Amino acid sequence: MLNFLIFGPPGSGKGTQSVHLAEKFNLLHLSTGDMLRAEIISGSELGKRVKGLMEKGELVPDSVVIEMIAHKIDSEKMKSGFLYDGFPRTVEQAVALEEMLGRRGMKISAMLALDVDHDELVRRLMGRGAVSGRPDDQDIKVIENRIEVYRSKTEPLADHFRKRGIYRPVNGMGSVEDIFERLCMVVETN
Ligand code: AP5
Repeated sequence: MLNFLIFGPPGSGKGTQSVHLAEKFNLLHLSTGDMLRAEIISGSELGKRVKGLMEKGELVPDSVVIEMIAHKIDSEKMKSGFLYDGFPRTVEQAVALEEMLGRRGMKISAMLALDVDHDELVRRLMGRGAVSGRPDDQDIKVIENRIEVYRSKTEPLADHFRKRGIYRPVNGMGSVEDIFERLCMVVETN
């Protein structure tokens, strides 16, 4: 089974590219952000617990997302593998994923890391905020906090996977189509 991570700051295009990659390579797209937003919409206890954190652009507790991912890995048998979008986001989550996969005889194939300029991230997120109603896209302070949380808590993961020899940087600037082509080249050579 393939296990690709798509990595990058908020607005770098992880979700957009994941949809296309999942379709082309028959992968199950696992977005922890989408799963958490579904919990909020459903009004579940979990959704109520995480809503405030997400609206401020803070991370939800590691244990919450680790459990969600473990459940999904065990429920899917029909695909060629998984594409993890927005997970892992801390070293603790990365270690948990490696252990989870190891116990099932799998490992991470590669980390596809999208590189996008700060101003372009803000432009994309503010653009979506104007139409989507996503609360964490509405306020420039929350957007800047999400980027800051990424820099302090998530970006260090790049080194973790660089040391494993599976870090693959990809230029995330340009059109959706051009970036998709670059990502496909990396996936196909893994
Ligand atoms: P999450 O949903 O993962 O959001 P995020 O990381 O902030 O990422 P985004 O979805 O905003 O950006 P993206 O990189 O997917 O870009 P997208 O393709 O959407 O997480 C939300 C929250 O949930 C977190 O803040 C946290 O609270 C919680 N959470 C989630 N996972 C967690 C975890 N593992 N641990 C703890 N907490 C967790 O594109 C953005 C916009 O840009 C779109 O409008 C798109 O159309 C546009 N766009 C994309 N590509 C291009 C392009 N090439 N050119 C122009 N526009 C483009």
